[in-house]
Amino acid sequence: MNAQIRKAVFPVAGMGTRFLPATKANPKEMLPIVDKPLIQYAVEEAVAAGVTELIFVTSSSKRAIEDHFDRNFELEYELEQRGKQQLLEIVHDILPKGVSSVYIRQPEALGLGHAVLCAKTVVGDDPFAVILADDLIDGGGQGCLAQMVAQFDEQGCSLLGVQTVDPKETEKYGIVSVQPQGERLDRVQAIVEKPKSSEAPSNLGVVGRYILTAGIFQQLEQTPRGAGGEIQLTDAIALLLEHEPVMSYRFAGTRYDCGSKLGYLQATVEYALKHAELKADFLRYLKGYCLPEKA
Ligand code: UTP
Repeated sequence: MNAQIRKAVFPVAGMGTRFLPATKANPKEMLPIVDKPLIQYAVEEAVAAGVTELIFVTSSSKRAIEDHFDRNFELEYELEQRGKQQLLEIVHDILPKGVSSVYIRQPEALGLGHAVLCAKTVVGDDPFAVILADDLIDGGGQGCLAQMVAQFDEQGCSLLGVQTVDPKETEKYGIVSVQPQGERLDRVQAIVEKPKSSEAPSNLGVVGRYILTAGIFQQLEQTPRGAGGEIQLTDAIALLLEHEPVMSYRFAGTRYDCGSKLGYLQATVEYALKHAELKADFLRYLKGYCLPEKA
């Protein structure tokens, strides 16, 4: 287990406009994939990678996230009274022992970069992870962050989780140009936020997993508003590149863009087809639904 990445920042202060009205009063990160909210998948991935300090950057409408990771004594009491031991364990063990959480408010949704900057005093000088819960990643045997932490242990510099994206969709991502270093590892030479496909330096897009050195905070403090009028983490990483090496890592696994309706639905179907309790019935249902009607 790595000795260095103990802290993970979860920026959850965005407005989630693509999911309105579902996200009017409920955080996007609390949308469930089958029976677990997105944020819990993200936290489980972080804990599996050795993270013990969870730092949530929240906004006023995100109370439900804090409640989700807190104890609910009334519910636990009721489940105990009804002898529902398995459910009791599920709600009781949401955060394993030894894992702590801190909540910081982002006063205004000024962008992902600004959200990360809000965590500066809690993170301190240590390298840390950033996880965007709406990018759900099924890493198979080893979670995406655990794969990246293993790389960080070897490289010791900032590391961006990337994947090959559709060249027509570069406008949705931070895009890197790179110099190959290893099987899945590249050295980042430049990074640009949401370029048009005609201007994109490659089709390697940054998705919601980062390991960053504390040097990023100094750069974020100097980052002006960029695309969409927001303080972009991508722009701060571009500044960081002038001072430190930054690597990108083509992780193994499938990523679902659960910030979009289509990605969310794809994740729901695929996770339901893997769900121990549901898969057989759900598969039967899907086959019946999709088969062409008999003449
Ligand atoms: P998105 O770009 O997905 O924005 O943010 P959003 O507001 O959540 O959703 P849409 O586009 O309006 O539907 C990526 C991540 O950065 C966080 C979001 O919560 C999400 O996890 N974020 C974004 C912040 O924490 N603060 C911000 O100011 C912006």
